[in-house]
Parts: sequence; structure tokens; C-alpha cells
Amino acid sequence: MDASDVLEPLSVADWGGPFEPSLCARAVAALEAGRVLAMPLPFPLQDEEKPFLDAGVLDNSRKNISYDPRTGRCAGSGYDGAQLAGLSAMLQRYGTAAESLMRGLCPSYGVALERARTSYRPAEISGRSTSPRHDDRRLHVDAFPARPTRGQRILRVFTNVAPDGTVRQWRVGEPFEPFARAFLPRLRGMVPGQAWAMAAVGLTKGRRSDYDHFMLGLHDAAKRDNAYQAGAPQAAVAFVPGTTWICFTDQVMHAAMAGRCAFEQTFHLPVAAMARPQTAPIRVLERLAGRRLG
Ligand code: SIN
Ligand code: FE
Repeated sequence: MDASDVLEPLSVADWGGPFEPSLCARAVAALEAGRVLAMPLPFPLQDEEKPFLDAGVLDNSRKNISYDPRTGRCAGSGYDGAQLAGLSAMLQRYGTAAESLMRGLCPSYGVALERARTSYRPAEISGRSTSPRHDDRRLHVDAFPARPTRGQRILRVFTNVAPDGTVRQWRVGEPFEPFARAFLPRLRGMVPGQAWAMAAVGLTKGRRSDYDHFMLGLHDAAKRDNAYQAGAPQAAVAFVPGTTWICFTDQVMHAAMAGRCAFEQTFHLPVAAMARPQTAPIRVLERLAGRRLG
């Protein structure tokens, strides 16, 4: 495998569109097929935002700054007052640009495409030490213990804004279906009452479905498997500063190996809004498991 097997280069150089219908159709088809859209689309920082390019913006142990558009809360820095307002405005500005890009590029998703959190990732990834389960330098699909999606898609827009030429290096792995087929037989089901209990005590935001349970199992099992990490089909991909890339991270096996100063905007999309719902991880897992996981 090499980068051309996983990347779909798009000549998009404007966050606002409008985009040709044929370009939109290609973008949707490529995303749903598990490819990574890549475009030469920089997100220039304003002068007053440039001090935020320093990893010192992060509060001690944090990896990311996050902004929640529903609450307006910006977390992860040690800032308050005017500094916090400036940082928060920068994340909002990226979120708005990413939303306009997605609405322009994937108009068929319409209002079903929901803007969720924005993150800013100033710190260098390589050389970090964490447990395998928390190590995003290991190939994985995204699944979050506290945030069940019950089958909704996770779509993410990323932009490298490193000021010094630092490339963001990813590995992209095999398609979802062969990965899931290999790992699903190793997973156990939930114990009766588990989903209800976790929601009731606030461990999960909403109830974890069988789908969420299997996706977390796949995430953890892939990251823990050293032989898989080293030997699985994979391609090295380098995103230079000024690049924006987009993929369904619940479907695309990915690992972020090195780099600093990237933005990320998360969207959620109901499976019913997809052009080819049969490619959604929930539908793939249901076919493999032979039952509904909803
Ligand atoms: C990840 O989703 O695993 C991290 C991606 C990145 O920060 O480049
Ligand atoms: Fe990830």
C-alpha cells in the first residue's frame, strides 16, 4: 500500500466554495469509500493568534485545546480573561471555516451533518509516552468510551498550521471490513445491564449500544496488537503545513505519528444521510455479526 491508495487529492483552495457538483459527488464517494480527502487549503492565523502556536498554551498534562460549540466552553489551556477569549475565538473561527467547507463539499448531507467539537493540537506528537490504549500513534478507528454514537458517523476535518514546516505524519491502514473481520471474533459482548449502569452513573453520555461496545473493542484490540501494528497493510502519509484533510475516522484506520500545531473539527452524521449507508461501520459489523447492533 502507498499514499495514493488511501488519499483522494482534491483541488480545493477555498473554504467557502461554491464547488462543482461533480467535485461534490467525488468527495462524498471517496469519503464513504474510506479514502482521505487531501487539499492545498491553508488556515492562515491572524497576528494576534500567532502566540498560540506555542505548546505552552496547553495546561500541564493536556494534549489538546477543545471548544464545544454547544456550550461555548474552551478547555485545555491555563488561560482566562482576554487570552481565553482570543483562543476560543480562534477555535470558533476554524470550526466555522470547516463547517462551511463541509456544507459546500457535501451538500447532500444537508442539516443531518452536525458540527460537534473543535480541537487545536499544538504539542508535538512524537516522543509522547502513554499506554497503548491512549496512544494515537497506533493504528485505530476512532471510538470514545464516554461518547457513544450508536452508529452515527464520525467525520473529521484536519488542517496542519505548523509555522516551521513541520509535517504531520500519519499511517493509514487497511479498509474497515477486512480489519473488522479479523478482530471481531476476538471481542466479547457486553454483560447484561452494563450499558444502562454506565449511563446511569455518568460514565457514558447517553447509553452505549452494542455497536459502541464493538467499536471500542476494535479500537483497543488493534492498538494492543503489536504484530498487527507492525505487519498490517499500511501507507505512510505526510500532510505538509497548509494542507487540509478529511476522513471518516470511525472507518479509516489511522495513526498520527509526528507533527505539531493542527486543527481538527468533528462532525456527526446519521447513517441514513449517507449516499451509500452500506459502507458505514455499523452496517459492516451487522453483516459480519449477523444481527442488528443498533
Ligand atoms: C487521531 O485521531 O488519532 C489523531 C489525529 C491527529 O491528531 O493528527
Ligand atoms: Fe484517532
